[in-house]
Amino acid sequence: MKVLVVGFIFIVEILSVFQCANILFFAPSPSKSHQVMFQPVFKELSLRGHNVTAIVCSPLKDPNLTNLTEIDMEVLYKIIYEEENEAREAMKKYILQKPNFLTVFLKDIVVKNIFHRFGKYILNMPQMQTFLKEDHKFDVVIVEWLYPTFAALAAKYRNPSHPVLAPDHDLPMPRDLSLKERLMSGLYAVYVRVYYHLVVLPREDALARKHLGQDIPYLGDIEKNISLLLLNRNPVFHRVMPVVPAIIELGYTNTNKSVEKMDPELKDFMDKSKNGVVYFSFGSNIQLLELPEDKLNAIFNTFKNIKYDILLKINKDTLDNKPKNVLTRKWVPQSAILKHKNTKLFITQGGLQSCDETIINQVPVVVIPFSADQTTNADTLAKYGMGKYLGYKDITEEILTEYINEVITKPSYKKNAMMLSKLYTDQPTDGLEKAIWWIEYVLRHKGASHLRYPSSDLPLYQYLMLDVLLLIVLALSVLVLVLIITVKLFICIGRKMFEKKTKKE
Ligand SMILES: *[C@@H]1O[C@H](CO)[C@@H](O)[C@H](O)[C@H]1NC(C)=O
Ligand SMILES: *[C@@H]1O[C@H](CO)[C@@H](O)[C@H](O)[C@H]1NC(C)=O
Repeated sequence: MKVLVVGFIFIVEILSVFQCANILFFAPSPSKSHQVMFQPVFKELSLRGHNVTAIVCSPLKDPNLTNLTEIDMEVLYKIIYEEENEAREAMKKYILQKPNFLTVFLKDIVVKNIFHRFGKYILNMPQMQTFLKEDHKFDVVIVEWLYPTFAALAAKYRNPSHPVLAPDHDLPMPRDLSLKERLMSGLYAVYVRVYYHLVVLPREDALARKHLGQDIPYLGDIEKNISLLLLNRNPVFHRVMPVVPAIIELGYTNTNKSVEKMDPELKDFMDKSKNGVVYFSFGSNIQLLELPEDKLNAIFNTFKNIKYDILLKINKDTLDNKPKNVLTRKWVPQSAILKHKNTKLFITQGGLQSCDETIINQVPVVVIPFSADQTTNADTLAKYGMGKYLGYKDITEEILTEYINEVITKPSYKKNAMMLSKLYTDQPTDGLEKAIWWIEYVLRHKGASHLRYPSSDLPLYQYLMLDVLLLIVLALSVLVLVLIITVKLFICIGRKMFEKKTKKE
């Protein structure tokens, strides 16, 4: 079993045999947008007769799912959002500040520290301690991948990973890189791998040993045994990159997700809007009200000056001096809102799930990116022409008002949203089907070592074909040498014969 936190990835590791398999699904990140992505997967596995234990922050709590045992980690939301503790402060800094050339390297250390502390906390939770002391056997272990590991995955699989063609998703970079960004990405690619292997892996290994037993293999070796990597990734939206067969790009995962219902007041607000609704949400990790005063003023003044209604997601029940056209909610049934005919525009931070849902529902956007992959996501949507990119530092009342009006009134944005949506969803099966099929594939074949890219086990000199090159160079040298000697010999013989001939005469 392996440990924790954020990522849109999960990993399948095989332990023994198949039929009605015992499955452990471990996804403890307190981020609703991550959790809703995992829910359909473990639910579906249980419906297909597998015996599933899910350790998650958003349990389904559905008594009809008799094959599903959930260990509730919901309390983690409180830790991260409600208690004004150290972790939240560090998190705030990380999320609100876009790193520059130098701080991007420091940020990596800070983030990995946050996740380390978080992992420690999770392993010490009473429900985790109880679970670990019980005697469980699992046929397959599915883990939401540890955040820092992300950067090292490519190295581990030796998947063709190139700092320019596929820069780290955590770098604040647009789709096309400048020379400075290519340099940053190149240095970062080396740096995260070195830091990961020298610092992060040993530290997490020690943590895992403390709680899971001293007799487990080194974390770095367990990691090499991963059967499959399921990625919430779509080549139309993300950068196109070659992937090995053990990496499955799920494409999109929303079709089978049940759409949450709107409460009556919200439904009324949506249905009765005269000029249409602008939906404003910065997702689950960025709290709008934590933004500096001047930015907040710019945003609220914009709300007062536009003719549209605004549905605003904030983590507060009431808002002082709320403009008349604004309705607030702490959690919004986002799919339902994006599907609604009166929704004209989505103002988003550009998180992956939000991009996914807005593309599927063909709603144009204004994206204000903050951390992680949001910059690239925002730039991608802007380049596809389905919205505008607005830098957080550039937010003013005038610009925000202008962008909102332009994206809603100019038809090209909606048209491009429809076009991108068609490209994005045109696939033989949806992501959930793919995920379940591949998890059962791993069960059927007791792992997927036969799909392992052999270069993972190849020494570097073989990978770079140095031995082959050396042989060719040697052979060529011998050939050239033989040629030179032969030519010299002929010249010599020729000269001797010529000399003989002239002597005779
Ligand atoms: C539970 O698993 C059994 C097979 O082990 C299956 O027949 C049944 O449909 C499953 N029930 C639910 C509610 O998922
Ligand atoms: C990797 O998998 C093989 C085959 O299942 C097993 O023999 C080996 O012990 C595993 N190694 C680690 C480090 O988990």
